[in-house]
Amino acid sequence: MIRVETAFEGKVALVTGGSSGIGLATARLLSERGAHVWLVARRREPLQSALSQVKGACRSSSQLCGIISADVTDVKQAEAAVTEVTGACGAPDILVNSAGDVDPCVVQEMDMNVIRQLMELNYFGGVNMTRACLPSMIARRSGHIVNISSVYGFLGGYGYSAYCASKFAVRGFSDSLRAELKPLGIQVSVVFPQDTATPQLERENQLKSPVIKALYDSQVMTPEAVARAIVRGIARRQYIIIPGAEGRLVFLLTRVLGNGTYWLMDRLVARSKKKVESMRK
Ligand SMILES: NC(=O)c1ccc[n+]([C@@H]2O[C@H](COP(=O)([O-])OP(=O)(O)OC[C@H]3O[C@@H](n4cnc5c(N)ncnc54)[C@H](OP(=O)(O)O)[C@@H]3O)[C@@H](O)[C@H]2O)c1
Repeated sequence: MIRVETAFEGKVALVTGGSSGIGLATARLLSERGAHVWLVARRREPLQSALSQVKGACRSSSQLCGIISADVTDVKQAEAAVTEVTGACGAPDILVNSAGDVDPCVVQEMDMNVIRQLMELNYFGGVNMTRACLPSMIARRSGHIVNISSVYGFLGGYGYSAYCASKFAVRGFSDSLRAELKPLGIQVSVVFPQDTATPQLERENQLKSPVIKALYDSQVMTPEAVARAIVRGIARRQYIIIPGAEGRLVFLLTRVLGNGTYWLMDRLVARSKKKVESMRK
């Protein structure tokens, strides 16, 4: 049995989206557990403030931590980020692909550029970072890639077509990656968080239409609770990680109800539309 407390000592962890939310909480926890932690995001200022939190969480002065300003949607920048970490403290043992965004909107009202950007970031961003890390992981026959999907990565929901497509893509990619990398000694995990109190959720709530707002009344987790599930899942080499009880329930229901899931969803959408209509009168 691998102990969560010691599984990360001396490991090099690279966390994209590490300046905020789930990525930052995961980075802090990995640092508490003794890993050398590197954060990737675009904006320098949030990265600097995240770095001081991550350094503050280190359990030993021998741990190395750093930041890299890079856009993960750019293949060259993704490769350069991995090269920089490797030069500074060794090739990444753990890659957490947490950089992501959301834009809730019905498909006919969405800008096509936004639909493409969500796929570029939520899906291709992770693909770029994974491909940049793989050569050294394959050479060492070890490593762990963690892809953050969403509950919207196993159930499509009203108002989330672009986001769901990108998060389903993360799930499909992870399934295949797991099968391909297992014989090479590399682990893969895919994480399906439910609503989590982060800047992403704040932005998302501001963008929701009244119907989307009325439809979803989910339990909100803290990023720290999600990070604990992620770190525990990595230590246990768990493939599917569903941090929250609500997420686990929805996962189970989609399997038990089958087509009944969509019947239920249609009723909930109809109820929300009715509620919004009656509020307008
Ligand atoms: N919060 C939720 O309710 C929730 C639920 C399920 C799944 N998730 C998923 O969990 C992951 C983390 O979300 P979060 O809520 O923690 O988001 P967040 O707090 O908004 O953080 C997003 C992070 O990604 C970085 N980022 C954005 N675009 C980037 C790019 N092109 N290149 C590099 N870094 C980039 C941001 O920094 P810069 O802007 O400076 O680049 C930031 O560090 C996402 O994949 C999200 O879809 C979130």
